[in-house]
Amino acid sequence: MMIDLRSDTVTKPSAEMRKVMYDAEVGDDVYGEDRLMNELQNRVADMLNKEAALFVPSGTMSNQLAIRSHTKPGDELICEYNSHIFNYEGGGPALLSGVQVHPLYGDFGILNIDQIKAAVRPDDHHFAATGLIALENTHNRAGGVVYPLPVIEAISNFAKTNGIRTHLDGARLMNAVIASGLDPAAYADQFDSVSLCLSKGLGAPIGSILSGSAEFIDTAHRFRKVFGGGMRQVGSLAAAGLYALAHHVERLVEDHDRAKDLAEVCLELGVLEHDLTWTQTNIVLLACPEGDAFELEAKFEKEGLLVSVVSEKRIRLVTHLDFTDKQLEKTKQILKIVLG
Ligand SMILES: Cc1ncc(COP(=O)(O)O)c(C=O)c1O
Repeated sequence: MMIDLRSDTVTKPSAEMRKVMYDAEVGDDVYGEDRLMNELQNRVADMLNKEAALFVPSGTMSNQLAIRSHTKPGDELICEYNSHIFNYEGGGPALLSGVQVHPLYGDFGILNIDQIKAAVRPDDHHFAATGLIALENTHNRAGGVVYPLPVIEAISNFAKTNGIRTHLDGARLMNAVIASGLDPAAYADQFDSVSLCLSKGLGAPIGSILSGSAEFIDTAHRFRKVFGGGMRQVGSLAAAGLYALAHHVERLVEDHDRAKDLAEVCLELGVLEHDLTWTQTNIVLLACPEGDAFELEAKFEKEGLLVSVVSEKRIRLVTHLDFTDKQLEKTKQILKIVLG
């Protein structure tokens, strides 16, 4: 059997999760009548100390609805150069919101307040108006790095003072919560909106939740319908999400420990991209000599390990719910065979 470390999205619903999905009561969510979905949305809104929340099919839709709801065409969105929003959402801000993206290079994905201050546009008709700042926590392409809360607070306070909205792409927010020991609301309080994915480390088959003020969620709800994301009998998906929140958050520490273990082996083999301090959650980045990543990917696959190529110099391993200790040992062997 192949070991799949391409992403934490590859997990399959467990037998217990499938059971609650099978048994779920359903209603029509476009009419707001799916009881379990209302429960899930309220649960996440409470956890993040927000007035309201909205279930959407994907993290991409969640981010794009946030951008559409916070901005107007011609605005500018500040985000990090390696962020998901800038790299992997198909030019969504331009296509769906008429928004220009202003990407800034972060240090391991982390932007600092001075960069933000320098990037915000003056109130002058030559410039696009800075409408939104979006941060990503944990930062996927930077290797699952956790944003330090004081850095977020400085950016958030500056944004508030200057009337700029803020959004958190918290696809892996719960990984940051487990790694930092902070309350989810401590992060969420700093942002006007937060997107949280249920289908990554939390192991649900589908779904993300966008949260914010009641007014913001009302706007996002309208755009979700317009973008074709209004769904009907979603109780089974809500049941999976509720199960994931109840059973799959605390255990993320296991994914982090296994990632650290893999990072140590990669360090010994001389291929860990940075030092061990940068493997903070469930992502390990391997540095490959130029042009080698696709070749290495093929060699790993031959030995029974699926990895993802981030660039020709970089390979990513992501630990997750379906990655066991037995697979961990086998993965270490494969790393040593291919790289030793
Ligand atoms: C940080 C981040 N944001 C958003 C997304 C988008 O999620 P989805 O694949 O559900 O659209 C991903 C997906 O991997 C991600 O890593």
